[in-house]
Amino acid sequence: MWFGIIALFPELFDSLACGVTGRGLKKGLVTVETWNPRSFTLDKHRTVDDKPYGGGPGMVMMAQPLAEALEAARKAAPQRPTVVYLSPQGKRFDQKAAEGFLEKKAVILLAGRYEGIDERILEADIDEEWSIGDYVLSGGELAAMVVIDAVSRLVPGVVKEEDSVSQDSLSSGLLKYPQYTRPEEYKNKKVPDVLLSGNHRVIEDWRLKQSLGKTWLKRPDLLKKMQLNKYQQQLLQEFKDENEF
Ligand code: ADE
Repeated sequence: MWFGIIALFPELFDSLACGVTGRGLKKGLVTVETWNPRSFTLDKHRTVDDKPYGGGPGMVMMAQPLAEALEAARKAAPQRPTVVYLSPQGKRFDQKAAEGFLEKKAVILLAGRYEGIDERILEADIDEEWSIGDYVLSGGELAAMVVIDAVSRLVPGVVKEEDSVSQDSLSSGLLKYPQYTRPEEYKNKKVPDVLLSGNHRVIEDWRLKQSLGKTWLKRPDLLKKMQLNKYQQQLLQEFKDENEF
């Protein structure tokens, strides 16, 4: 998976060297290359932004440095890249979107700063616009890092146990079941007996029931998007009965 980044603060991406993303980078399964639009400016002040035509607050990122940074990134891409702009105006990024990115293999992420970018770049160069949520960040860098993190852990070989990715929260559309580790009893609270039973079929059923129940309680919006089969409906009903809902 190749990511080309266009950003005014490329050093922010250094923190991808930690943890799971770092593993992907070290193993060469994920590549992140950055281009700073400031390096493509033509004036001695290396100006990347200017006042918006028509007036109004804030500054807008100028087209020319962005266009040239994008061109450099395109040339370096191992295959035809999808060019993505991160902004609060984009489609909402979620687990399904992360899976979609994985298929693309080469993605350029353009992180904006200030009030936005010149519309002509959006029209000419941007294939897709994505948002990581309904709030305004001071720049697209963190959003780009969220995308890189969520996609990288899906690249085969990046996460140690492949299973743990398919059992992630949301990969099935449901929230994750409750998890416990040693000791068996902590502050008078015991690990549910079923998890100590060694019966994998029963454990699997219990986990699915908990996932359904938790999703019903915490994220009913996710459950509404799903078509539960008869068995899942039965497990959810059992969860409601057992917990007196
Ligand atoms: N840039 C600023 N806010 C953002 C958001 N919520 N998502 C993606 N990019 C952004």
